[in-house]
Amino acid sequence: MSPTLDAYWMPFTANRQFKKSPRMLAKASGMHFWTDDGRQILDTIAGLWCVNAGHARPKIVQAIAEQAAQLDYAPPFQMAHPKAFALAERVAALAPAELNKVFFTNSGSESVDTALKMALAYHRVRGEGHRTRLIGRERGYHGVNFGGISVGGMVANRKMFGAMLAGVDHIRHTHDPTRNSYTVGQPEHGAEFADDLERLCALHDPSTIAAVIVEPVAGSTGVLIPPKGYLNRLREICDRHGILLIFDEVITGFGRTGQPFAAQTFGVTPDMILMAKGLTNGCVPMGAVAVRQSIHDAFMTGPEHLIEFFHGYTYSSHPLACAAGLATLETYAEEGLLTRAQQMQGYFAEALHSLRGLPNVIDIRNIGLVGGVELAPLPGEPAKRAFNVFLDCYDKGVLIRTTGDTLAFSPPLIIERAQIDQLIETVRGAIQRAA
Ligand SMILES: Cc1ncc(COP(=O)(O)O)c(C=O)c1O
Repeated sequence: MSPTLDAYWMPFTANRQFKKSPRMLAKASGMHFWTDDGRQILDTIAGLWCVNAGHARPKIVQAIAEQAAQLDYAPPFQMAHPKAFALAERVAALAPAELNKVFFTNSGSESVDTALKMALAYHRVRGEGHRTRLIGRERGYHGVNFGGISVGGMVANRKMFGAMLAGVDHIRHTHDPTRNSYTVGQPEHGAEFADDLERLCALHDPSTIAAVIVEPVAGSTGVLIPPKGYLNRLREICDRHGILLIFDEVITGFGRTGQPFAAQTFGVTPDMILMAKGLTNGCVPMGAVAVRQSIHDAFMTGPEHLIEFFHGYTYSSHPLACAAGLATLETYAEEGLLTRAQQMQGYFAEALHSLRGLPNVIDIRNIGLVGGVELAPLPGEPAKRAFNVFLDCYDKGVLIRTTGDTLAFSPPLIIERAQIDQLIETVRGAIQRAA
């Protein structure tokens, strides 16, 4: 008997619209979902930017099943299991060399709050407890917990929720359609937007600032690619003032931009990298924070029987998540997926930019296997035109994502050229019909 749709309050969903016309998924494999009435749907968003190796990969499925039978749970406080260490080692090996300590969480939002707490505590343990300010960026998305929405800069995610964390400020965003629209890859203009951090340093005094957090590529706000030189400049300013630089790589991690992490693609090493999603190929919830040895070591003082960092989750390093993570990283390595975007990005970019000139398309942005197509909003009805395109594509067998009036694509890294063609042609038709 199928359930009624009443009880479930769905997250980030237009609940009333959905329940009038539900979109139910029943199974998944490779590049596809199947709906409960048997329709095949091309997944062009890797689930939710997470299923980077495609769905139901046998090695990962088997690892989870075997782990559940062998060790279903292990307490992570004062206890451990070997796969937690094995996965931390594998993650550290993928991250930039200096970031060799790994703390596990269960989601991107938890990785964000973990990193912010770590940054504050790090300064305190080394005698700089006056560094209490956290700096985010306009249009940033850092999950939905209080720390994350405080440093985040997406208005709809913030305005309902009161004053949030005290002592937070934001640098300006990097979107500059006048100079950079329709850029293929990294925009030429806008490195100087990083200097906005100097403005905040002058305003607050840099000695009060603990950390700056940014997404190297801002995804949820509509796919904003960092201008050339921008991240380097942020790094320089942070170095000058003793401020930690945190990259939220929850969507850019694990091959999305053609390297394991966007830090490597852009050649800028932050002090912490946050990850989740692709860490387990989306199969079991898990996140992580990779940090510099020096940050970790600053905590390793005091009597040895005492806890050094008062933070952690019941499900940190959950055995099922660790098994899924190890099998995921093996699958990525065996199939070269963490660098496959380098081979596919040229074809993807050309296909994506062929949508230029369609009615109401006002910008197209891309890097690696991420793409955004921005549409002019319907007068007085923001986000509706893009939502109509989303519904139309779904009807035609292609799952895309929208944020505001931007269509966002982040396919599994196994995508083939013919599937890119299917995506683009379906979107082209839907944009034309939405005119
Ligand atoms: C950059 C970034 N940070 C954090 C998050 C939050 O991750 P989660 O939904 O796993 O809490 C997301 C989710 O999309 C994200 O894109």
